[in-house]
This record gives sequence, structure tokens and C-alpha cells, in this order.
Amino acid sequence: MSPTPDATYRITPGGVLLMPYGSDSLVVTRDGQCAAVDAAAREVMMTLGAEGATLPELAASIAARVPRRDGFLAGMESVRGLIECGAMVSWSPSGLPGGQPGLGAELADRASEPGRASATAEAGMVWVAELGLPWSAFAAAPATVAELVGEVLASPGRRLLEFGPGLSTVAVGLAADFAGVEVEVVGIEQDPAWASALVEALPDSPHVSASLALAPLVPALADRAPFHMNRWYDRDALGEVQGPFSVVLVDGPTAFRFEWRYDRWPALDFVLPLLAEGATIVLDDANREGEGAIGRDWVERLGPGWHASMVDRSLWLRHTAGK
Ligand SMILES: C[S@@+](CC[C@H](N)C(=O)[O-])C[C@H]1O[C@@H](n2cnc3c(N)ncnc32)[C@H](O)[C@@H]1O
Repeated sequence: MSPTPDATYRITPGGVLLMPYGSDSLVVTRDGQCAAVDAAAREVMMTLGAEGATLPELAASIAARVPRRDGFLAGMESVRGLIECGAMVSWSPSGLPGGQPGLGAELADRASEPGRASATAEAGMVWVAELGLPWSAFAAAPATVAELVGEVLASPGRRLLEFGPGLSTVAVGLAADFAGVEVEVVGIEQDPAWASALVEALPDSPHVSASLALAPLVPALADRAPFHMNRWYDRDALGEVQGPFSVVLVDGPTAFRFEWRYDRWPALDFVLPLLAEGATIVLDDANREGEGAIGRDWVERLGPGWHASMVDRSLWLRHTAGK
């Protein structure tokens, strides 16, 4: 859809799920598309009534909320993301599907169930769900998680394997619940306290099946320079991890110290036999020296059947052979 200045925008008729994510938010549509939006765009969205607003009105509203030009540009970029992912639809009075009788009541019923998102305004149909884990710099970037949600929900198998699960895992679960599609998430976690917090935060949904392998980090030796010494997950704890996985996120072990910089290198060899046809591998923090080297090594070893691209700090490797 290409926005025109006189089009009027409103929240998509099925409503959207909004998940606060640090200072940004993730917005998910009923068909599982996801976009990351900033605070100014989120505020506009929360006040967007059933009548909608024109693009100039949205722009004026964002401009009123942010003092600086770069803030305004970020807000408008967020609105573009919302339009692109289908969270906002444009309509003309003759083209509007005449409201959706019963939908508001049905959503209100769902919202009253334990563990469900709460609706803020039926008119705007923006549903808010907290991720239930503390925000910190450990979390993947909003754009990465938005892409992850869309990738998992659009994949044929909808099975996600995460090394270093966290807010990203909960976001995928809540999005799947909202979209009403089945996902299976398997997390490999080094820290028992983080694993417990995560289990508490995961949605109790018939659509979401989640399991965690708690695996302490142990010394690991690699036979490829310069990745010789690593800590990696105790393989004895990973026997239950069974493929095939459509998407793999490598966001663990924790690797923020210089001496840990190659700790994520063993993940590729571990996952290769567990990948579904057309799978995607995501390596987070590929902007850092260690993960940058790991990413280059993986690209070289995977060869031409894989397409590499960056989303914020993460490297995305998509299996394209045969597609
Ligand atoms: C980079 S984080 C993973 C984050 C997750 N994929 C996300 O995007 O939210 C990797 C590891 O850091 C640890 N971790 C994550 N958040 C943490 C926090 N708030 N405090 C302490 N450790 C944390 C966990 O052990 C986790 O497996």
C-alpha cells in the first residue's frame, strides 16, 4: 500500500497487539505481521479512534510529541512500519466494511481471560500485553524481534530454537497467541534464575508450546582458528533438543566480555542437522568483533545457497537453495 496524503488511516479492523519493548513497542497484526514503533508513534496509535486520521494529522500529532526533528523522523518511520505491516489500514468512507458487529465484545471476552492481553480502547482496538520480564540491554533490538516474530509466524513449521531466550521468546509467544497460530519454541538457557523468570512470563496459551533446556556453560574446544577456546552449553543437557526448526536465534551464551567473544561459534555445527528446509538462522550482536568474525565464518561455510542480510545488530542467514 502506498500512503497518499489524503487517505485516512485507522487501526486494522481485527485490532492489533501492542507489546511495550524497552522505550519502543512491538505491534502485531492478527495475521502475524510485526513492526517496531517508537514512543511517539505508540502514543498516536493509542489515541487513534475508529474514525482514523489522515497522514498529515498523524504527522502533526507526532510533531507535537517530540521536540526534535530526528524524533519526528523516527516517529514517521514508525508509522510507515505500521502501515507496511498492515497494522494501519487506509480506507475511504465507501470502502469501510461497516464496522465489525460483535468483534469488540469477543475481544473483550478474550481480554478478561487470565493471562490475556487487556484492551485499552475498543474503538482503536489496540491490545496491550506486557512481556513480563525486566527490560535490559541484554534484549535484542526491537527491529530484530519484530522481524523474528514475522519470520516465525510466516514459516511453514513455526518452530523456533533460541540460544539465549528472553523477551524475544515471550514476544513470539504472545504474538502467536494473538494471531491464533501454533508455534513451538525451544530455548537453551545457561542461567537457572533467568530460566525461572522466563517460564513465569511465557503465555499460557493453547497456541504456544514452549520448552527450556537448562544447560550450564562448560569449556569447549574448537578446531577452527581463531575460535579455539569457547564456553558453550553442556551438550549432555541438549539431548532433548529435536529438529526440525524453521528459525534459529543465536543470542547466547552471554558474550559481552572480550574473552567470551567467540562463545557463539559452536551453534552452527549444532543446528545444521536440526534445520527445516528453507530455515533461517539469526546471529545477534553481529556488530561486535567476535560475532562479526563468527558471522563471516558461517557465511563462508554455508555457501551460496544462503542469503545474508543485517537487521539492526543481527545477521540474518536465509536458506534460499531450491526456492
Ligand atoms: C543476550 S541475552 C538473550 C536475550 C533474548 N534473546 C532477548 O532478546 O530478550 C543472553 C542471555 O543473557 C542472560 N540474560 C538475559 N537478560 C538478562 C537480564 N535482564 N539479567 C541478567 N541476565 C540476563 C540470559 O542468561 C540469556 O540467556
